[in-house]
Amino acid sequence: MQLRCFDPNCATTLPLHAAALECPRCHGLLEVEVDAPQQSASELKELWAQRRRSRDARDISGVWRYREFLPAYAADEVVTLGEGNTPLVRGHRTAEFAGVSDLQFKHLGWNPTGCFKDLGMTVGMTEARHMKATVVACASTGNTAASLAAYAARAGVAGRVYLPAGQVSLNKLAQALDFGAEIVEVEGSFDDALNTLLAKTSEGIYFLNSINPFRVEGQKTTMFELLDQLNWKAPDYLVLPGGNLGNSAAFSKAFEEMLRFGLIDRAPKMIVVQAAGANPFAQMWRTGAAMLTPVAEPETIATAIRIGNPRSWQKALRGVKATGGQVLDVTDAEIGEAKAVIGRDGIGCEPASAATLAGLRKLRTSGEIPASASVVAILTGHVLKDTNFIIQSHQKQSQHHQENQAEANHAHS
Ligand code: F0G
Repeated sequence: MQLRCFDPNCATTLPLHAAALECPRCHGLLEVEVDAPQQSASELKELWAQRRRSRDARDISGVWRYREFLPAYAADEVVTLGEGNTPLVRGHRTAEFAGVSDLQFKHLGWNPTGCFKDLGMTVGMTEARHMKATVVACASTGNTAASLAAYAARAGVAGRVYLPAGQVSLNKLAQALDFGAEIVEVEGSFDDALNTLLAKTSEGIYFLNSINPFRVEGQKTTMFELLDQLNWKAPDYLVLPGGNLGNSAAFSKAFEEMLRFGLIDRAPKMIVVQAAGANPFAQMWRTGAAMLTPVAEPETIATAIRIGNPRSWQKALRGVKATGGQVLDVTDAEIGEAKAVIGRDGIGCEPASAATLAGLRKLRTSGEIPASASVVAILTGHVLKDTNFIIQSHQKQSQHHQENQAEANHAHS
């Protein structure tokens, strides 16, 4: 395996362990170019099924189980917390709310730190340790920070996280503190925090943001596990939230590889949903612009996706186009409403994840998705990731209810 510049016009290659985050020639994003596996598609499927009976930590991990498509490491180098293995949960009230008969959720919030970031972090941290890093760092809206902190602690490496001051859920901040990371608060948004971090190239820090191609490799396995669960038959649609677009980039790469090596014969249409106040990718899609124009001051209640300048948009766009998918945005009110329905289905998630259900409902209402479609929606974060949001929205509701009651009593007297 080697690293390759994502821009096909450049296509510069570098050794796999070059510790580069961008192409030295054109400054574009890099990706891991996987080698053709030794086994046939059916042999691989059988091998991965057999590993579910193994007690090897790499076989138990829902990421490393698919390691034929990952960079190779010695067994004792792998930093794992048993991530992955998240179930598919069928939606009932949510399906009715969205207006589709076949809706399932892949709940990535049921990972070790409560979020999908663990799937990328296990590979990123393994690479960091392989490279003998002593300090690892990321900028984050909270979840990457919690995940980095946990995996850094497991790896025995110092973790440092750059957070937009006052804009991170306290639950996520608490996790990062508990796992012993150093917290650096930056005035401004996530984009400012990321720029601050990226300026620190001379300090010997190993960067673990989602532009790190090893993180993308780990997140890619989400789709291997999903298709494995579906007996290698893709749903019609896959819906996921979009912030920095790392996950959209990773899923795009997974589909491309699974098709190329014969694991699937059809990919789902990939639908990326952004929050209306942080929607540069949706705007670009809507206008058909060739380049992404960042949103200067992103704003949404879904703080996880409060991002104005997503770095992986080119990679994400390739996947949306290749699968015949699309990009849209939903308002904060739509996100809040959808989140409450996911809760009432006994599933629960953090606000950013609920953008998926809101987006699906919107596409059903406009008739762009048929009622008979099979849909898998990705829930990215656990319900306990943002408890303040839940308490506040219920307080508002009960206040509203009391006001209505008082008005009704007044009218009767
Ligand atoms: N959902 C949740 C819960 C997230 O935390 C994020 C991103 C996303 C969706 C969007 O994913 O960036 O791959 O498009 N959180 C990052 C963080 C930015 O720092 O935790 P994306």
